Amino acid sequence: MTSSMRTQPDKGFRAAVLHGLAQPEKRIPCQYLYDQRGAALFERICQLDEYYLTRVEIGLLDRHAGAIAAEAGPRARLVEFGAGSERKARILLAAMESPAEYVPVDVSRDHLTQSLADLDAGFPGLSVTPVFADFMADFALPPPNGHGRTVGFFPGSTIGNLHPSEAVEFLRRAARVVGQDGAMLVGVDLKKDEAILNAAYNDIQGVTAAFSLNLLERINRELDGNFDVASFDHWAHYDAREGRVEIKLVSRRRQTVRVCGRQFRFDLAEPIHTEYSYKYSPDEFRWLARQGGFASSSTWIDDQRLFSLHYLRPAATAVDGTAIP
Ligand code: AVI
Repeated sequence: MTSSMRTQPDKGFRAAVLHGLAQPEKRIPCQYLYDQRGAALFERICQLDEYYLTRVEIGLLDRHAGAIAAEAGPRARLVEFGAGSERKARILLAAMESPAEYVPVDVSRDHLTQSLADLDAGFPGLSVTPVFADFMADFALPPPNGHGRTVGFFPGSTIGNLHPSEAVEFLRRAARVVGQDGAMLVGVDLKKDEAILNAAYNDIQGVTAAFSLNLLERINRELDGNFDVASFDHWAHYDAREGRVEIKLVSRRRQTVRVCGRQFRFDLAEPIHTEYSYKYSPDEFRWLARQGGFASSSTWIDDQRLFSLHYLRPAATAVDGTAIP
């Protein structure tokens, strides 16, 4: 899995919850879904039949690793935005010609340590350099070590959890990280039949519901909350007009909840918004990438047109920093 959305430092949790619950439309940012239990539940989501994203992306990586490696060139440095999907990074590293370095970037030491232990075992000659940083802000890469191209890797359609304007900002920062000679490989979930999307976020075993509701349990555990978790429902639905799955926790009754000594009132059916998961057609994503300073080099899509992998190169820029069309 990609852990990018679970990488915010915990110190922000309290402030985000107190702020989000005080809004007229209650909301809590999705990165806080990924405490230890949330991350474990997300791993289970990735194995569900309904949640095709992980399975199809791995299939695409397996199938096109040779072409991706050819684009990356020899002695490339692979920079993964978020750690935890070493299975995916491993497919790329195995196909690449003498990869020089693997740089997982994550604010969670736990996630990094686990990926590193796994990778060290499989690639003895590879230099692995973790960077402890929040990649949603600027960060510096380790100094050059004679490597070839820097290839950023952002798998799992985590980019879909960002609002499109945030996705553009993310790509602009990524363009600076990989440099003019670099590239980005981004996994992006595609628009498709609504029934497939609704099933992916409402699995029959209720793992996704447990993942969402764990946010309230986390508040109870860490922020002295008294949410009656059984009085909230997980709700997920694809909004075709907005091109996104919207995920909420909906109160089953009127109630008042205490968090960190403060009271928050809920009406019957009042939601807390927890996640968006944007879906992009290939052209829409290429357009977004262009706004973020990248030109599309290759796009790979599975036969059922469920998921896409985009290999992007920084677009030529004018002296004033604007993209040359
Ligand atoms: C991490 N991210 C890409 C997942 C998604 O599909 O938007 C998070 C998720 N939420 C519920 N199921 C999966």
